[in-house]
Amino acid sequence: MLQQLQARLVCSSCKGELAQSDTSVQCLRCHAAYTIENGYVSMLDRREQVERPSDWNRKLGEIRDYSEIANSFALSGIGRFATFLNYGYVSTGNEQHAVIEPDDVWNRNSVKLLLEAVGRTALEGREVIDIGCGRGGNIAALHKYFKPLSSVGLDICPANIAYCSAKSRRTESFFLVGDAENIPFADESFDVVLNMESAHAYPNRARFYEEVYRIMRYGGVFLYTELMLEEEVAQNVRLLEEAGLSVIRNQDVTSNVLLSCDENAKQRTGTQGIANNDNASTNIGDINDFIALPGSKKYEEMRAGARQYRMMNLVKRQPGLNDHNNLL
Ligand SMILES: C[S@@+](CC[C@H](N)C(=O)[O-])C[C@H]1O[C@@H](n2cnc3c(N)ncnc32)[C@H](O)[C@@H]1O
Repeated sequence: MLQQLQARLVCSSCKGELAQSDTSVQCLRCHAAYTIENGYVSMLDRREQVERPSDWNRKLGEIRDYSEIANSFALSGIGRFATFLNYGYVSTGNEQHAVIEPDDVWNRNSVKLLLEAVGRTALEGREVIDIGCGRGGNIAALHKYFKPLSSVGLDICPANIAYCSAKSRRTESFFLVGDAENIPFADESFDVVLNMESAHAYPNRARFYEEVYRIMRYGGVFLYTELMLEEEVAQNVRLLEEAGLSVIRNQDVTSNVLLSCDENAKQRTGTQGIANNDNASTNIGDINDFIALPGSKKYEEMRAGARQYRMMNLVKRQPGLNDHNNLL
């Protein structure tokens, strides 16, 4: 399975064929050079540093922040349980889409967020990629609850991929360092693309949506969650549609996420463990805002409706076919 997934790897930049040795990967067409270290491949094309320095610097900032978080988790002793980096979801009276209730003790709200994002999408026997996979919690839960055929976890932060690679024993999962705006997989490689609370960090959101469309098979589904400024919601829908994707669900679940933030504030699990742990400091600016603790700017903006947590499902429709041919 691993070999089949790896066979679909292409150059992040030009999508050309790759040549691989034990320690490096090179594009046969544009000669981009990639590295293999500590058992995982890094498909970041460092030429972006020269071509788009401001984008590159933003991405380096993400790598730095999440490396610090990884380090902080390791020092705090909760690292092995901290497999999610999201706000989570708590049920309210509003419409729910999940067909399964989580039975997890640890990270229950994050698993619930994933199950709501998946909703009624058929995943069994499908090939899934999680872009911005963080510490791999979503991939582990997907395999626990849905039995996909295979999964790929892609994240820009090497510390996250090192953690996922070390933790996962699954032969049908493959983790690699890569950039959501330059996805190193051939066209039509996946049935399902998952992206949770990561896209806000991408300098070029339109490019990411085009990449999602490119790597999806016809009839496939894009499961997408993100905290957006209220005025960004329509703009994102427009960019998604311009990329070729059709929106079939666009739900505001801010009230559910706020309840989870309230619960998280009292716990020492998940990302919240960082804020509660005196032994594990980070240089991330306002950590309370980063994790949307009650009273923080982000939390109050969510409460006021200025920021909305959106849960979207989109499909790549086969021209001329209707939704019966999708995975819904
Ligand atoms: C808030 S965390 C969410 C992680 C995971 N999706 C979850 O739900 O636990 C955001 C993740 O996006 C990753 N990320 C940020 N920019 C990225 C990019 N350009 N390409 C791929 N991953 C990126 C970060 O490294 C981080 O792991």
